[in-house]
Amino acid sequence: MNSVESAIQSRMSVRAFTKEPISREIVTKLLNLSARAPSGTNTQPWKAYVLEGALLQDLCQQVCSTYDSIAKNPELEKEYQPNYDYYPGKWFSPYIDRRRENGWSLYGLLGIAKGEKEKMHAQHRKNFEFFGAPVGIFFTIDKELGRGSMLDYGMFLQNFMIAARGEGLHTCPQAAWNSYSKIILPFVGAGDHEMLVCGMALGHADKSDIVNTFHTPRVSAEEFTTWLGV
Ligand SMILES: Cc1cc2nc3c(=O)[nH]c(=O)nc-3n(C[C@H](O)[C@H](O)[C@H](O)COP(=O)(O)O)c2cc1C
Repeated sequence: MNSVESAIQSRMSVRAFTKEPISREIVTKLLNLSARAPSGTNTQPWKAYVLEGALLQDLCQQVCSTYDSIAKNPELEKEYQPNYDYYPGKWFSPYIDRRRENGWSLYGLLGIAKGEKEKMHAQHRKNFEFFGAPVGIFFTIDKELGRGSMLDYGMFLQNFMIAARGEGLHTCPQAAWNSYSKIILPFVGAGDHEMLVCGMALGHADKSDIVNTFHTPRVSAEEFTTWLGV
C-alpha cells in the first residue's frame, strides 16, 4: 500500500483515546495541512477552536450535565437543536438501513441490547467527553455562506483526519455536539454569525478498548457507479 492509501484505509472513527498529550505544534501542523483543501474560489470557509486541559474538561462537564438533564426531562430537548440539518427529517431506505446496521453493530459489540436505555445513554455521553481525547476541536462556518461551502468543509475535515494518520494519531468527527451549540459557541468565543459544523476528537487510540475494534463496511464502487460509454 502506498502512504496515501494506507492513511485512508487506516482512518476510522476512534471512540476511546489515551490521555497521551498532543503538542500544539502537531495540531497546528494538522490544521495547516487541512487548509490545503480546495474550496470554491479559494473561500476557505473553515474556522477552528482547539480545546485542551482544564477548559476542555469544563466544557465537557457543562455539556454532559445538560445531556443528563435532557434524559431526565425530555421536554428540554427542544431547547437544544443543531444549527443545521445534518440528517434528514424523515429517514428512508437505503440510508435508514445502513444507519440502523451501524448503530446496532456498535451497540452489539459493546454488549448493549435494544431497550437498554441507560447503557445507550452512557455510551452516547462519551461523545461529550471527546471519548477521552486530550484534544477536542470545534469547527464553525459563517452562517451566510452557501451550501457549497459545506462541501469545501468536508474536504478540509477529511484532510485533517488523514493528516492525523500521518502523525500516528486518530480522530472521531462528531456531529453529536451540534445540538449543544448554544453552550459551545459562547464558550469558545464564536461570533453571532458563526454556526457549529461539528466537533472532532484527536489523540492516540486506546488499543485495549473493544470499541476500537469496530470496523464499518462500505458499499462497493460496483454498486454505486454507473458506467456510460460505448
Ligand atoms: C460529519 C460526521 C459526524 C459524525 N458524528 C459522529 C458522532 O457524533 N459520534 C460518533 O460516534 N461518530 C460520529 N461520526 C462517525 C460515523 O459514525 C462514522 O464515520 C461512520 O460510521 C463510518 O465509520 P468510520 O469513520 O469508522 O469509517 C461522524 C462522522 C461524520 C463524517
